[in-house]
Amino acid sequence: MWKPDRSIKKPIYQQIADFMERRISFGEFPPGSTLPSERKLADYLEVNRSTVVLAYAELRASGIVESAKGSGTRVTKHKWGIAPKQTPNWKTYVEGGTFLPNLPFIRRIREELRKGSGIIDFASGELSDDLFPNEIVRELLQKQPFQEQLGYDDPQGYSPLRETLVSFLEQHLHIHSTDSSILITSGSQQSLYLITQCLLSPGDAVAIEDPSYCYSLPMFQSAGLRLFRLPVDDRGINPEDIVTLHRQHRIRMLFLNPNFQNPTGSVIAPERRIRLLEIASELGIPIVEDDPFTLTALNGDPPPTLKSLDQTGNVLYIGSLSKIAASGLRIGWLIAPQAVVNRLTDARQQMDFGLSRIPQWVANQFIADGHCENQINLLRKGLLKKRNELMRGLQDIMSDYITYTPPKGGLNLWCKINREVDDFKLLDEAIKRGVLFVPGSVYGSDQDCIRISFARPRFEEIIPGLTHLYEALQIHCK
Ligand SMILES: Cc1ncc(COP(=O)(O)O)c(C=O)c1O
Repeated sequence: MWKPDRSIKKPIYQQIADFMERRISFGEFPPGSTLPSERKLADYLEVNRSTVVLAYAELRASGIVESAKGSGTRVTKHKWGIAPKQTPNWKTYVEGGTFLPNLPFIRRIREELRKGSGIIDFASGELSDDLFPNEIVRELLQKQPFQEQLGYDDPQGYSPLRETLVSFLEQHLHIHSTDSSILITSGSQQSLYLITQCLLSPGDAVAIEDPSYCYSLPMFQSAGLRLFRLPVDDRGINPEDIVTLHRQHRIRMLFLNPNFQNPTGSVIAPERRIRLLEIASELGIPIVEDDPFTLTALNGDPPPTLKSLDQTGNVLYIGSLSKIAASGLRIGWLIAPQAVVNRLTDARQQMDFGLSRIPQWVANQFIADGHCENQINLLRKGLLKKRNELMRGLQDIMSDYITYTPPKGGLNLWCKINREVDDFKLLDEAIKRGVLFVPGSVYGSDQDCIRISFARPRFEEIIPGLTHLYEALQIHCK
């Protein structure tokens, strides 16, 4: 007694095709049998004949029925033809796998940015378009055409780029390396991924900063690591906390972003660095130094990296071009002992056969021809100007709501909101008013903080952005 349902969105012909397919699959029409004529079925279902014609065409297209001249529409004899079409239940698949999804706040921010609505973006921790060396790369590509082969590259990375990096890192960061101790990665993110997947096992205890870089958190959790947090203050983490943690949990690795930490902007104080390295070597704990920001130092010499002070080989160093030149090139590097580089290179071969030679070639020309120094000088001036504008705006517009330490490098400002606030409502209100930021809870346990990236918005957007943010704060702060 089934009849198509005219109140639902699904077209009538599709409902009829599905209905007939079900009857076929339940054996009501066995293979080789003839279906009711189009006219008969149309009368029975009280629809136009043309609707049944469409429904039968749909079944034919799926190979369930066939038309033979003069003998109507028949169920095909092949077994596969009568099997009901089964769409996989993708929901069960996407909920599977070992990769945890990003935090809801991060997904919400990404969706807003994808809309391309012109929202003022204090959320993305990256450079604005005018701070990328677009013009230089364009000219470089015109002057020196790419003439390399396009086969798979060495999974350890394009060797001229590794050689160039050896002198670049020596000159700018006093890091000694050799081309064989460098692995080129698709940004620092891939270095972190390779380390968690290849050097650690589920259940291993690792110590991370609190708060810390938000994209690494689900990655660590997906790898089944047990995370222990080291509180960060204005002088970075306190090394003595590691001793206590190690006693309790046998820490296998320390992940740190010592210079201009994301999100707090803090720099580990000199005496703490020394002590940190001492403790790491006494306890035999490797330190992963995630260092995207050292060369963004706004004034004077950049602080030293742990790697440049490490005398016992405890530090695995991760760097990248993302925050100093171009995140879209996806060029990162990892400096590690030979055994580690070999292991990760081998994994790279299984994972993606190494990075494409094209961005590696571009990066090599860019650094080897001395453009990176110019870029960094311009970048630091540009960032300083924006940081100062942000400070001015915060002072003038919202000093009664927040406290902060002016960052001396990096791309971010970490603000403490002096009142109780619901992150979710605040972000919603800010989006309504055309501005984005990242709520502090994304980075760990701190509830009443927000991260403002001053590198991403254009200079002239900073004050209007802060004004909108202030309006949102006024509504949602108690
Ligand atoms: C501390 C830190 N590490 C790693 C990354 C990843 O950077 P990329 O993969 O672009 O080099 C970021 C990006 O924001 C970061 O802030």
